[in-house]
Amino acid sequence: MQILEETGYVVLSSYAGDVIPAEWLELEYVDWLSSGVTRFAPLASAQGDIDCNGFWKFDPPKADKDGVWIESQTQIAPALTARAQAIGANVGRCRVIELQPNSYADALYNSHLDDNNRLNPEGEGWVVRCFMQLSDNPDSYMVLRDDIDDPSSEIRVPLPAGAQLVVDSERMWHSVWHQGDEPRYCLITSLESGPELEKWIWENDPINHVESAHIDPWLEAVQREEGMSRRDGRTAHYGYDPTRVAYDEA
Ligand SMILES: [Fe+2]
Repeated sequence: MQILEETGYVVLSSYAGDVIPAEWLELEYVDWLSSGVTRFAPLASAQGDIDCNGFWKFDPPKADKDGVWIESQTQIAPALTARAQAIGANVGRCRVIELQPNSYADALYNSHLDDNNRLNPEGEGWVVRCFMQLSDNPDSYMVLRDDIDDPSSEIRVPLPAGAQLVVDSERMWHSVWHQGDEPRYCLITSLESGPELEKWIWENDPINHVESAHIDPWLEAVQREEGMSRRDGRTAHYGYDPTRVAYDEA
């Protein structure tokens, strides 16, 4: 999609509809370590089970599209389900993430690329992700980098309730720096690029260049050093960087 070509992300207008916290608080969560201390509550999965695995792990394996809605979950969260479906694009994985508070160093350590397009047939729409912020965390940021080793490529997008972004998360390094005492909740949906998604993006006032949120320079310097050296330690431990997408691994 042309709108994502230049910067790899687009920030949309904030969601203005009503939200009911019970929709995400009462879902069934499974422990699923992602970037940070997290749990996930899937609304759509490969086969309609409460399962967070990539769709290629199932038999038969499939691309991250044609997710099966999980009735026990969508009954609890009808408005969230409707929001994901209203986009009109093919939905793959759709889930609420719960993230415990962390530090900026943790966010850099956790930054990763998503494995979105494994088994996606040549010529079909590239799978990207939509992030719909649920809890109100204006002091927390989606930390995006075009190049993980280039701090100047970093954009920090604040996450007040209703914040909405679409990110080519297989291209853009991403993670969340979540400040606060309570967990952060966000609806993350895998979507196939195409005219439907493009139309929805254009209807929601897309901005593909946003000003990065301010961070204290001293804190940034100290925590960047910590986060990046922890990344280096992990790469040395594994012999490769597990936060990069490697189709031939796993
Ligand atoms: Fe991710």
